[in-house]
Amino acid sequence: MAFPTHRMRRLRRNSALRSLVRETTLDVDDFIMPLFVCEGSRIRREIAAMPRNFHLSPDLAAEECREIRDLGIPAVILFGIPEKKDATGSSALDPNGVIQQAIRKIKAVAPDLLIITDVCLCEYTSHGHCGILKEQEVDNDRTLEILTAMSVSHAEAGADLLAPSDMMDGRIGAIRRGLDDAGFSHLAIMAYAAKYASGFYGPFREAADSAPSFGDRSSYQMDPPNAREALREIELDLQEGADIVMVKPALAYLDVICRARDRFDAPIAAYNVSGEFSMVKAAAQSGWIDEKRVALEILTSIKRAGADMILTYFAKDAARWLS
Ligand code: PBG
Repeated sequence: MAFPTHRMRRLRRNSALRSLVRETTLDVDDFIMPLFVCEGSRIRREIAAMPRNFHLSPDLAAEECREIRDLGIPAVILFGIPEKKDATGSSALDPNGVIQQAIRKIKAVAPDLLIITDVCLCEYTSHGHCGILKEQEVDNDRTLEILTAMSVSHAEAGADLLAPSDMMDGRIGAIRRGLDDAGFSHLAIMAYAAKYASGFYGPFREAADSAPSFGDRSSYQMDPPNAREALREIELDLQEGADIVMVKPALAYLDVICRARDRFDAPIAAYNVSGEFSMVKAAAQSGWIDEKRVALEILTSIKRAGADMILTYFAKDAARWLS
């Protein structure tokens, strides 16, 4: 006989009671802030579809990182916007490339901030695909060689953690071997393990100028209806040596995060992607929702689903809201 013996409302009566029984809490330590780095100096250009996010030249990216560190956010993830693109994405390997420069500048001003680098060719290739092409197809195994060289180049510049996001088969193993051979066996890999071919990346592709010039990414990124396949992707990446596995996007894939949490003991990251951010911003700007409330609710839901860390464009705002 449940009611009236049991009354669930008893523990909701005031905020002290609610805080005692709260199952999930967000903390600034959970956040990773994505940054877009472009070439040049003194550049800070707002991205239209992503309010308060900018294209930053390496010098201003370093200033931004000081602020991020001062807010208590433990890590950033860097995306490069190179000046020159070509068919093989060769500027990704340039020791003086935009990311390599940014890493050095950031380390000089915020040495304790963790620098994660996105390892993917789509921002560097003229065709915008995440790998090298053979005719109209992405050539998996040749792409691995370039991704490995790109990872070593980021490591040499001082990156703390490599985050391959291309979804080629075997990249985690290839990058792990490449890092180990180059003397970087201490650096961890955060694998974008279950990354879906998603419409939620729209604003990012404008921000990173990385939309594919033909076709789409569904021959390498995952098909949205599949969840068991995500668990296989994660399992393979862990076998190949991934230290952290990611589910991306987050919000439309909370079930995948939850199933991964149940199945694996490795740390799980979730990417609250650009479209998830921009939708909240746009609705808030129209006065239709309360931005702070909705953003914190979304971030809490991602954590409640089982993510240990969240890549989010709300990181700075959320750090302020939570302090
Ligand atoms: C690069 C990459 C993408 C994102 C992160 N790394 C875009 C894509 O795959 O098209 C998306 C991030 C976001 O939307 O916030 N491959």
